[in-house]
Amino acid sequence: MKNFIININSFLKGVILFLRPGVFLNFLSNPLLFASNVLKLTKWISVHNDKNILNDFYRPVRNYADRYKLFNYIIKQEKLETEVINYLEFGVSKADSFKWWLKANSNTDSRFYGFDTFEGLPEKWGTYKKGDMSALVPDLNETRHDFFKGLFQDTLYEFIKTHDLNEGKRKIIHLDADLFSSTIFVLSSLAPYLNNNDILLFDEFNVPNHEFYAFKIFTDTFYIKYELLGAVNNFYQVAFKIVK
Ligand SMILES: C[S@@+](CC[C@H](N)C(=O)[O-])C[C@H]1O[C@@H](n2cnc3c(N)ncnc32)[C@H](O)[C@@H]1O
Repeated sequence: MKNFIININSFLKGVILFLRPGVFLNFLSNPLLFASNVLKLTKWISVHNDKNILNDFYRPVRNYADRYKLFNYIIKQEKLETEVINYLEFGVSKADSFKWWLKANSNTDSRFYGFDTFEGLPEKWGTYKKGDMSALVPDLNETRHDFFKGLFQDTLYEFIKTHDLNEGKRKIIHLDADLFSSTIFVLSSLAPYLNNNDILLFDEFNVPNHEFYAFKIFTDTFYIKYELLGAVNNFYQVAFKIVK
């Protein structure tokens, strides 16, 4: 019976490969992926809709500025005002969130690293075009930070080689690159360096084919265990703590 099923399966697969439906039905691949990811996202939310933490689900209207409520909450809950941290932000643009974190943590041994092309998005994202969100490399009057200009795909490995990410400082990793490709690249590259209590922040988590998809693939692939710390704007901005 098992062999029969394997043979039927292989025959049908061969027929589909021979017919090459992707040549004429390729336009369906994104909507179908979207539908699949919406199902996964809504299931994920139903499992993680914890009301004992900061969580405003469900609210009818989004207020982007509420992400600072989440940051403040995390800072207080995790006592991060004075802890020595390594803050890594992927997607800096004009540095609004980067500057917020620099100000919020006062430890002189903390370090803040920002990564961006500063030439805008490398691919289109929803209604945003390639190149949107470009900005000058921010000029900040602070000595604890460093910016790495270029694609993450070109800068991150060199950064990892030259910085000790296992030195005992807690890492706050802020994923604000919007795109699936950028987010999955960063998460996968940093996977070996994630330690217990490190924090992941997502800025557009509930976008089904982008940050959520990257998070889902990443956590499933690397068997990542995490605790949800808080979420605002119907899980648009989300914070997790790594559990090891
Ligand atoms: C939404 S903006 C960041 C906003 C910023 N964190 C803030 O709160 O003000 C997204 C940024 O991600 C950057 N980005 C996306 N993918 C990237 C990649 N693969 N390499 C480098 N930068 C990338 C874009 O250049 C863009 O500036």
